[in-house]
Amino acid sequence: MSDTPEAATSDTLVTVEHRDDGVAVVTLSHGKVNALCVALLDQLHDIAQDLTRHAPRAVVVTGGPKVFAAGADITEFAERGGAEPFALAPPDRVGEIGGAFLRALNAVAALPCPTVAAVAGVALGGGCELALACDFRIAGQGSRFGQPEILLGIIPGGGGTQRLARLVGPARAKDLVFTGRMVDSAEALEIGLVDRVVEDDKVVEAAIAQAAALAKGPRHALALAKSAIDEGLEVSLEQGLLLEQERFVQSFTTPDAAVGVRSFLAEGPGKAKFD
Ligand code: COA
Repeated sequence: MSDTPEAATSDTLVTVEHRDDGVAVVTLSHGKVNALCVALLDQLHDIAQDLTRHAPRAVVVTGGPKVFAAGADITEFAERGGAEPFALAPPDRVGEIGGAFLRALNAVAALPCPTVAAVAGVALGGGCELALACDFRIAGQGSRFGQPEILLGIIPGGGGTQRLARLVGPARAKDLVFTGRMVDSAEALEIGLVDRVVEDDKVVEAAIAQAAALAKGPRHALALAKSAIDEGLEVSLEQGLLLEQERFVQSFTTPDAAVGVRSFLAEGPGKAKFD
């Protein structure tokens, strides 16, 4: 049995289900396409911070079985939601929107446990960027990914020029960002934007299964490995190798190392059961 998701109120745009297998499932719930308005991003930030403190063993982020997220809430880009006379949101408001993306997606990326995005339907703009902030992406066959901001005359503001380029390389990122075209799940898999494609109605289930398998692993070692890889990507190879040395030594100070090494020496490989 697992806890049911927090009771949703009219203002609840993100819910969390804490499962008994140590997986927390974070679900977006906003209108027809999970448009990422500032209120939703603020809730996502607070939830990620809370998860960081309470440390589930793994996290799944999903928009549910039909749509992941169609990006920033475009109605927030204009005064009065676009009603005439038309006026774009002023720069300070745009800065608040960008800041909400930065805070929320950085908090998701910094979760000290493995994270899996379960993508059904579209992951566009900020939706694609949220999936990029996770460690892994499982996509439904009918899913589509893209950074269509250029078609609005703007550019990505939630990591689309940064995390995307780091994941698929600069030329592929420029193709997606310059054209705004969508890629289907097969192309997303081919270019490394997603890790696995499953039947549309199996996306959430497959992501939870992957997360649950990771949740049985050594939590401290996983957190150290994640931070070594992510932080190492931000520095030179030389600095990254030194960072790895620090985390390597640190890993021997956690209970995971005592359990894992003792188990190997007593019983052979792959038998350790981590707390
Ligand atoms: N922000 C706010 N509302 C959005 C939205 C967004 N990013 N994307 C879609 N919507 C709304 C539409 O306005 C529409 O609202 P309505 O039913 O009240 O008219 C509803 O969601 C459904 O969208 P619609 O375009 O009618 O459905 P569709 O199935 O034909 O297409 C999408 C769905 C997501 C592919 C398409 O709406 C789209 O391309 N959206 C914009 C994506 C984008 O540019 N994201 C980057 C933002 S920076």
